[in-house]
Amino acid sequence: MSTPTTGLRVCRGIGEFRAALADRLGAAPEPASLGLVPTMGALHEGHGHLVRLARQENTVVAVSVFVNPLQFGPDEDLDRYPRTLAADVELLARCGADLVFAPPVEEMYPDGEPLVRVTAGRLGSVLDGASRPGHFDGALTVVNKLLNITAPPTPSAFRAYFGEKDAQQLLLVRRMVADFDLPVTVRGVPIVRDDDGLALSSRNRYLDTAQRRAALVLPRTLRALAAGELDLDAARERVDAEDGVRLDYLVVVDPRTLVPVEPAAGALALVAARVGGTRLIDNLVL
Ligand code: PAF
Repeated sequence: MSTPTTGLRVCRGIGEFRAALADRLGAAPEPASLGLVPTMGALHEGHGHLVRLARQENTVVAVSVFVNPLQFGPDEDLDRYPRTLAADVELLARCGADLVFAPPVEEMYPDGEPLVRVTAGRLGSVLDGASRPGHFDGALTVVNKLLNITAPPTPSAFRAYFGEKDAQQLLLVRRMVADFDLPVTVRGVPIVRDDDGLALSSRNRYLDTAQRRAALVLPRTLRALAAGELDLDAARERVDAEDGVRLDYLVVVDPRTLVPVEPAAGALALVAARVGGTRLIDNLVL
Protein backbone atom coordinates (compact mmCIF):
# COMPACT_ATOMS: atom_id res chain seq x y z
CA MET A 1 0.00 0.00 0.00
CA SER A 2 2.99 2.29 0.15
CA THR A 3 3.13 5.21 -2.21
CA PRO A 4 6.05 7.46 -3.10
CA THR A 5 6.02 10.50 -0.87
CA THR A 6 6.02 13.95 -2.37
CA GLY A 7 8.25 15.15 0.44
CA LEU A 8 7.79 15.13 4.18
CA ARG A 9 5.89 18.17 5.37
CA VAL A 10 5.89 19.46 8.96
CA CYS A 11 2.69 21.19 10.09
CA ARG A 12 2.33 23.24 13.26
CA GLY A 13 -1.33 24.24 13.08
CA ILE A 14 -4.43 22.03 13.16
CA GLY A 15 -5.96 23.75 10.10
CA GLU A 16 -2.70 23.48 8.16
CA PHE A 17 -2.37 19.78 9.06
CA ARG A 18 -5.95 18.98 8.07
CA ALA A 19 -5.56 20.77 4.74
CA ALA A 20 -2.28 18.95 4.03
CA LEU A 21 -3.92 15.62 4.93
CA ALA A 22 -6.82 16.30 2.57
CA ASP A 23 -4.34 17.18 -0.21
CA ARG A 24 -2.28 14.04 0.29
CA LEU A 25 -5.37 11.82 0.53
CA GLY A 26 -6.81 13.45 -2.60
CA ALA A 27 -3.59 12.75 -4.50
CA ALA A 28 -3.18 9.19 -3.19
CA PRO A 29 -4.19 6.18 -5.28
CA GLU A 30 -7.62 4.70 -4.51
CA PRO A 31 -8.57 3.26 -2.12
CA ALA A 32 -6.93 5.91 0.03
CA SER A 33 -6.03 4.97 3.58
CA LEU A 34 -4.45 6.93 6.38
CA GLY A 35 -2.10 5.74 9.11
CA LEU A 36 -1.44 7.89 12.18
CA VAL A 37 1.46 7.25 14.54
CA PRO A 38 1.03 9.36 17.69
CA THR A 39 4.35 10.07 19.45
CA MET A 40 5.93 12.45 21.91
CA GLY A 41 9.05 12.74 19.76
CA ALA A 42 12.57 11.75 20.91
CA LEU A 43 12.07 9.06 18.32
CA HIS A 44 14.00 5.80 18.20
CA GLU A 45 13.96 2.62 16.14
CA GLY A 46 10.81 1.44 17.97
CA HIS A 47 8.95 4.43 16.52
CA GLY A 48 10.66 3.78 13.18
CA HIS A 49 9.13 0.31 13.24
CA LEU A 50 5.62 1.74 13.81
CA VAL A 51 6.04 4.22 10.97
CA ARG A 52 7.39 1.64 8.53
CA LEU A 53 4.45 -0.64 9.29
CA ALA A 54 2.05 2.28 8.78
CA ARG A 55 3.85 2.98 5.47
CA GLN A 56 3.28 -0.60 4.30
CA GLU A 57 -0.39 -0.55 5.19
CA ASN A 58 -1.55 2.93 4.11
CA THR A 59 -1.37 5.32 1.20
CA VAL A 60 -0.79 8.32 3.51
CA VAL A 61 1.19 8.28 6.76
CA ALA A 62 1.08 11.03 9.39
CA VAL A 63 3.07 11.16 12.62
CA SER A 64 2.26 13.47 15.52
CA VAL A 65 5.08 14.76 17.69
CA PHE A 66 3.70 16.40 20.82
CA VAL A 67 4.93 16.27 24.40
CA ASN A 68 1.57 16.27 26.10
CA PRO A 69 1.70 18.13 29.43
CA LEU A 70 -1.60 16.56 30.56
CA GLN A 71 -0.05 13.13 31.00
CA PHE A 72 2.85 14.24 33.22
CA GLY A 73 2.50 14.46 37.00
CA PRO A 74 3.86 17.46 38.93
CA ASP A 75 7.07 15.62 39.90
CA GLU A 76 7.66 14.01 36.53
CA ASP A 77 10.00 14.83 33.66
CA LEU A 78 7.87 17.17 31.50
CA ASP A 79 10.50 19.92 31.47
CA ARG A 80 13.44 17.69 30.73
CA TYR A 81 11.62 15.32 28.34
CA PRO A 82 13.86 15.34 25.24
CA ARG A 83 12.62 17.54 22.39
CA THR A 84 14.53 16.58 19.26
CA LEU A 85 12.28 17.63 16.37
CA ALA A 86 15.04 18.08 13.76
CA ALA A 87 16.38 14.55 14.36
CA ASP A 88 12.83 13.18 14.55
CA VAL A 89 11.98 14.66 11.16
CA GLU A 90 15.10 13.08 9.64
CA LEU A 91 14.16 9.65 10.99
CA LEU A 92 10.58 10.06 9.78
CA ALA A 93 11.71 11.04 6.30
CA ARG A 94 13.84 7.88 6.17
CA CYS A 95 10.84 5.78 7.28
CA GLY A 96 8.66 7.24 4.53
CA ALA A 97 6.20 9.37 6.54
CA ASP A 98 4.28 11.98 4.55
CA LEU A 99 3.27 14.46 7.23
CA VAL A 100 4.43 15.44 10.68
CA PHE A 101 2.03 17.22 13.00
CA ALA A 102 4.13 19.00 15.63
CA PRO A 103 1.84 21.54 17.29
CA PRO A 104 2.90 23.94 20.02
CA VAL A 105 1.08 23.46 23.34
CA GLU A 106 -1.13 26.52 22.70
CA GLU A 107 -2.43 24.97 19.49
CA MET A 108 -3.61 21.85 21.31
CA TYR A 109 -4.80 23.58 24.48
CA PRO A 110 -5.62 27.19 23.50
CA ASP A 111 -7.52 27.82 26.74
CA GLY A 112 -4.91 26.18 28.94
CA GLU A 113 -5.72 22.79 30.42
CA PRO A 114 -8.99 21.47 28.99
CA LEU A 115 -12.00 21.48 31.29
CA VAL A 116 -13.41 18.28 29.81
CA ARG A 117 -11.17 15.21 29.66
CA VAL A 118 -11.42 11.55 28.89
CA THR A 119 -11.54 9.48 32.07
CA ALA A 120 -9.64 6.23 31.83
CA GLY A 121 -11.79 4.64 34.55
CA ARG A 122 -11.00 1.47 36.46
CA LEU A 123 -8.37 0.16 34.04
CA GLY A 124 -6.58 3.48 34.23
CA SER A 125 -6.26 3.55 37.99
CA VAL A 126 -4.19 0.40 38.51
CA LEU A 127 -0.49 -0.32 37.83
CA ASP A 128 0.94 2.72 36.01
CA GLY A 129 -2.29 4.56 36.74
CA ALA A 130 -1.80 4.00 40.47
CA SER A 131 1.83 5.16 40.33
CA ARG A 132 1.08 8.07 37.99
CA PRO A 133 -2.35 9.44 38.99
CA GLY A 134 -4.09 11.16 36.08
CA HIS A 135 -1.54 9.90 33.55
CA PHE A 136 -3.97 7.86 31.48
CA ASP A 137 -6.70 10.50 31.57
CA GLY A 138 -4.15 12.88 30.06
CA ALA A 139 -2.87 10.36 27.52
CA LEU A 140 -6.37 9.34 26.38
CA THR A 141 -7.49 12.97 26.17
CA VAL A 142 -4.68 13.82 23.78
CA VAL A 143 -5.07 10.61 21.77
CA ASN A 144 -8.77 11.38 21.41
CA LYS A 145 -7.93 14.87 20.18
CA LEU A 146 -5.26 13.59 17.78
CA LEU A 147 -7.65 11.01 16.33
CA ASN A 148 -10.32 13.68 15.84
CA ILE A 149 -7.86 16.12 14.31
CA THR A 150 -6.52 13.48 11.92
CA ALA A 151 -9.66 11.48 11.03
CA PRO A 152 -9.98 11.60 7.23
CA PRO A 153 -12.98 13.49 5.85
CA THR A 154 -13.80 10.84 3.26
CA PRO A 155 -14.59 7.23 4.24
CA SER A 156 -10.96 6.21 3.82
CA ALA A 157 -9.58 3.50 6.07
CA PHE A 158 -8.01 5.06 9.16
CA ARG A 159 -5.49 3.21 11.33
CA ALA A 160 -3.58 4.35 14.41
CA TYR A 161 -0.37 2.65 15.55
CA PHE A 162 0.77 2.17 19.16
CA GLY A 163 3.68 0.26 20.66
CA GLU A 164 2.99 -2.76 22.85
CA LYS A 165 5.63 -1.59 25.35
CA ASP A 166 2.95 0.71 26.76
CA ALA A 167 0.61 -2.25 27.15
CA GLN A 168 -1.77 -0.55 29.58
CA GLN A 169 -2.00 2.54 27.34
CA LEU A 170 -2.68 0.33 24.31
CA LEU A 171 -5.44 -1.52 26.16
CA LEU A 172 -7.02 1.77 27.24
CA VAL A 173 -6.82 3.24 23.73
CA ARG A 174 -8.55 0.14 22.40
CA ARG A 175 -11.24 0.51 25.08
CA MET A 176 -11.73 4.21 24.33
CA VAL A 177 -12.06 3.52 20.60
CA ALA A 178 -14.61 0.77 21.29
CA ASP A 179 -16.52 2.67 23.99
CA PHE A 180 -16.70 5.92 21.96
CA ASP A 181 -17.23 4.19 18.57
CA LEU A 182 -14.29 6.06 17.10
CA PRO A 183 -13.89 5.32 13.38
CA VAL A 184 -10.31 4.08 13.58
CA THR A 185 -8.59 0.69 13.68
CA VAL A 186 -6.01 0.43 16.45
CA ARG A 187 -2.87 -1.50 15.53
CA GLY A 188 -0.61 -2.70 18.36
CA VAL A 189 3.00 -3.22 17.33
CA PRO A 190 5.47 -5.51 19.16
CA ILE A 191 8.21 -4.09 21.36
CA VAL A 192 11.52 -3.39 19.66
CA ARG A 193 14.56 -4.26 21.82
CA ASP A 194 18.21 -3.37 21.68
CA ASP A 195 20.67 -6.22 21.08
CA ASP A 196 21.10 -6.56 24.87
CA GLY A 197 17.33 -7.01 25.34
CA LEU A 198 16.43 -3.60 26.77
CA ALA A 199 13.12 -2.36 25.34
CA LEU A 200 13.65 0.81 23.31
CA SER A 201 12.30 3.89 25.07
CA SER A 202 12.82 7.63 24.69
CA ARG A 203 13.72 7.64 28.38
CA ASN A 204 16.67 5.24 27.90
CA ARG A 205 18.71 8.28 26.93
CA TYR A 206 18.57 9.43 30.58
CA LEU A 207 20.53 6.32 31.67
CA ASP A 208 24.28 6.39 32.22
CA THR A 209 26.35 3.28 31.41
CA ALA A 210 25.98 1.66 34.84
CA GLN A 211 22.23 2.38 34.97
CA ARG A 212 21.75 0.97 31.50
CA ARG A 213 23.49 -2.23 32.57
CA ALA A 214 21.34 -2.38 35.72
CA ALA A 215 18.17 -1.83 33.66
CA LEU A 216 18.77 -5.14 31.90
CA VAL A 217 17.42 -6.83 35.00
CA LEU A 218 13.94 -5.97 33.71
CA PRO A 219 13.94 -7.95 30.43
CA ARG A 220 16.05 -10.71 31.99
CA THR A 221 13.64 -11.17 34.87
CA LEU A 222 10.63 -11.19 32.53
CA ARG A 223 12.30 -13.87 30.44
CA ALA A 224 13.16 -15.94 33.54
CA LEU A 225 9.54 -15.65 34.70
CA ALA A 226 8.28 -16.72 31.27
CA ALA A 227 10.65 -19.69 31.28
CA GLY A 228 9.39 -20.75 34.73
CA GLU A 229 12.88 -20.28 36.24
CA LEU A 230 11.52 -17.85 38.83
CA ASP A 231 8.18 -17.53 40.58
CA LEU A 232 6.66 -14.08 40.99
CA ASP A 233 8.10 -13.42 44.47
CA ALA A 234 11.58 -14.46 43.43
CA ALA A 235 11.28 -12.34 40.28
CA ARG A 236 10.33 -9.28 42.35
CA GLU A 237 13.26 -9.91 44.70
CA ARG A 238 15.61 -10.21 41.79
CA VAL A 239 14.62 -6.81 40.37
CA ASP A 240 14.77 -5.12 43.77
CA ALA A 241 18.18 -6.65 44.52
CA GLU A 242 19.73 -4.99 41.50
CA ASP A 243 21.90 -2.02 42.46
CA GLY A 244 20.24 1.32 41.73
CA VAL A 245 16.93 -0.28 40.71
CA ARG A 246 13.73 0.23 42.71
CA LEU A 247 10.79 -1.95 41.76
CA ASP A 248 7.43 -0.27 41.38
CA TYR A 249 5.44 -3.35 40.35
CA LEU A 250 5.93 -6.73 38.76
CA VAL A 251 2.66 -8.51 38.08
CA VAL A 252 1.17 -11.18 35.90
CA VAL A 253 -2.26 -10.23 34.60
CA ASP A 254 -5.00 -11.15 32.18
CA PRO A 255 -4.09 -8.90 29.21
CA ARG A 256 -7.75 -7.93 28.60
CA THR A 257 -8.66 -6.96 32.15
CA LEU A 258 -5.33 -6.35 33.96
CA VAL A 259 -6.64 -8.59 36.73
CA PRO A 260 -3.78 -10.56 38.39
CA VAL A 261 -3.66 -14.23 37.38
CA GLU A 262 -1.35 -17.17 37.99
CA PRO A 263 1.59 -17.18 35.57
CA ALA A 264 0.44 -19.28 32.60
CA ALA A 265 0.69 -19.23 28.82
CA GLY A 266 -1.04 -16.16 27.39
CA ALA A 267 -0.85 -14.15 30.62
CA LEU A 268 0.96 -10.81 30.48
CA ALA A 269 3.88 -10.02 32.79
CA LEU A 270 4.28 -6.29 33.37
CA VAL A 271 7.11 -4.58 35.19
CA ALA A 272 7.82 -0.97 36.16
CA ALA A 273 10.89 0.20 38.06
CA ARG A 274 13.01 3.23 38.71
CA VAL A 275 16.57 2.98 37.52
CA GLY A 276 18.27 5.92 39.17
CA GLY A 277 15.77 8.70 38.53
CA THR A 278 14.34 7.13 35.39
CA ARG A 279 11.10 5.20 35.37
CA LEU A 280 11.12 2.31 32.90
CA ILE A 281 8.42 -0.19 31.95
CA ASP A 282 8.55 -3.46 30.07
CA ASN A 283 6.32 -6.47 29.50
CA LEU A 284 6.25 -9.95 28.03
CA VAL A 285 3.45 -12.34 27.10
CA LEU A 286 4.18 -15.59 28.92
O1 PAF B 1 2.94 6.69 24.00
C1 PAF B 1 3.15 7.91 23.80
O2 PAF B 1 4.17 8.32 23.24
C2 PAF B 1 2.13 8.90 24.29
O3 PAF B 1 1.52 8.48 25.46
C3 PAF B 1 1.08 9.25 23.23
C4 PAF B 1 0.26 8.03 22.83
C5 PAF B 1 1.76 9.82 22.00
C6 PAF B 1 0.11 10.30 23.78
O4 PAF B 1 0.79 11.46 24.14
